[in-house]
Amino acid sequence: MHKILIINGPNLNLLGNREKDIYGDQSLEEIEEISKKKSKKLNIKLNFCQSNSESEIIELIQSVQKTYDGLIINPAAYTHTSVAILDALRAINKPKIEIHLSNIYVREDYRKTSITASGVDGSICGFGYLSYILAIEALNSLLNNNK
Ligand code: DQA
Repeated sequence: MHKILIINGPNLNLLGNREKDIYGDQSLEEIEEISKKKSKKLNIKLNFCQSNSESEIIELIQSVQKTYDGLIINPAAYTHTSVAILDALRAINKPKIEIHLSNIYVREDYRKTSITASGVDGSICGFGYLSYILAIEALNSLLNNNK
């Protein structure tokens, strides 16, 4: 059974109340539940976490090399600012996917650049909570050698 980690960055704990027109109605707990259901179907063990702290996120990314088979990360606002998170991602030699609920390419100019995206295998954005489900499917394919 593959073991994967989903990391959620700052302010994603507020989903369900925060800018619903952009991020949707689902709370992070609801997204966790849907993600766990999907993972179970694919015989994946999923750990799901959230942190508002850049250093905690870096430590979680570092834990992937030893403890997990793959990583999905929504770095939230750190996407656009954090070379430290990019470096942590580049140090991990496991399949990695960046996700966003919103389509960052149609928003403010400062959101159109992802610093962290060059540290992952691929990115999925703009599908709301479905970005999480699509990423679990993609990671599952990568873990099973694209089968
Ligand atoms: C986000 C997009 C980021 O620009 C923003 O800072 C977030 C959420 C998304 O999932 O759409 O907090 O990562």
